[in-house]
Amino acid sequence: MSMAPPPPPSYEAPEQGRPAERWSSTMGFVLATAGSAVGLGNLWGFAYRASQGGGAAFVLLYLLIVLVVCLPVLVAEMVLGRSTGHSPLLAPLTAGGRRWAPLGWLYLLVAAGILAYYSVLMGWTGRSLLHALLESLPATMAEAEAYFGAISSGGDAVLGHLISLALTGVVVAAGIRSGIERLSRWGLPLLFLLLLGLAIWAAGLPGAREGYATFLLRWDASKLIDPTTIRNAFTQAFFSIGTGVGAILAYGTYLDRRSAIPAEAALVVGMDTAVALMAGCVTFPVVASFGLGAGVSGSTVGTLFIALPTGLASQGAIGRLVAGLFFALAFIAAITSSVSLLEVPVSSLIDRFGWSRGRAVWLCVAVIAVLGLPPALNVAALERMDAIFGGVLLLSGGLAMALLLGWQAPARFHADLLGSGSPPWLVGALLWALRWLAAPALGLGLAMSSFDLIGRGAG
Ligand code: PHE
Repeated sequence: MSMAPPPPPSYEAPEQGRPAERWSSTMGFVLATAGSAVGLGNLWGFAYRASQGGGAAFVLLYLLIVLVVCLPVLVAEMVLGRSTGHSPLLAPLTAGGRRWAPLGWLYLLVAAGILAYYSVLMGWTGRSLLHALLESLPATMAEAEAYFGAISSGGDAVLGHLISLALTGVVVAAGIRSGIERLSRWGLPLLFLLLLGLAIWAAGLPGAREGYATFLLRWDASKLIDPTTIRNAFTQAFFSIGTGVGAILAYGTYLDRRSAIPAEAALVVGMDTAVALMAGCVTFPVVASFGLGAGVSGSTVGTLFIALPTGLASQGAIGRLVAGLFFALAFIAAITSSVSLLEVPVSSLIDRFGWSRGRAVWLCVAVIAVLGLPPALNVAALERMDAIFGGVLLLSGGLAMALLLGWQAPARFHADLLGSGSPPWLVGALLWALRWLAAPALGLGLAMSSFDLIGRGAG
């Protein structure tokens, strides 16, 4: 076997090597990427991790990590996609040579792994939506728990998973512009409006102040160095921004050469954080007003599916409407994210084997449908998959991205951003942050999540 060194990476991928599809405009890309970022992670994850401890310290750490770690990695991911013009499977190889080829496989694995349980969560969301609208809300916590037990296991959960995955497949099969971009163009603004309306409604609840206090105003400086809080903030930030699995890389390949990546990345991060904070301004007042705090502090993924409807049940028809709107917006948030996860293997199969989009979509859907059976049948399996794929492996993908563009191929990072008109000081600052802040911080975050996972496995 010849061991010829890989050719030096070229910064300008030939246009004919780039996929033919394009976003219709920069705004289309920003909305689709923000759609990928804004998801169940913002609505459920942020609230339950903030309430698990930390309060304002968690929020502060989260913001810090988002700015100094996630933002440079997000820029790197967009650059990797745009400058190579290749899918997540082939982009690392193109940018870094053969040694980096396994990273492409890692992205495929992580995206499929996350989507497998994400679509289960979507299924619960859809089922809760139908229940709030067509039936009734559970009157007591015990009733809610029994109901949640029923929808989160067995045939109902499997059906919800399959339907959610099929809907995701339909959107991705329709293509970049007419599928993914079109969905995000109406979905994201609608989600913002619904959330804003609900946050205003929640501000009028009797326990609103107490609710804000639990996640924004409760200050305990010792939490800033508490390993659990730090680890939670890391995992939450990466999962929520959605960088480290190649989803945004895939979206970057359809991006125009001229658009200003740093500004777009900042917009996406800003929107994602705003949604997380706004969602907290809905869930915490509800939890505080209806005395559900005790149930929520022992959080699991299911907490808000149980607490929110129970709290709202006492509000009669308005409560049902609010619950319905909340689950509807959660479902919209989820599908604009799930399509980006599916795009990772789909674009890779198209890129690597020249398959048609339809064929790639339905093969991936079939495989992921099977992978999603364990988490659909068992909540503990879902939590474990989240810790592995959405925690440790996602952070590994982020770290590899920071190393690839920060250390292995920094010239590509420079050339792409300078070539699209970003000011040199900004490009220098981002590269510095990628090398010296993001990479070491991710190393630390990854070590902490791995210890946690091993500890839990042993415990
Ligand atoms: N960011 C999404 C959320 O917050 C989930 C996601 C993770 C999407 C990774 C794409 C990539 O729910």
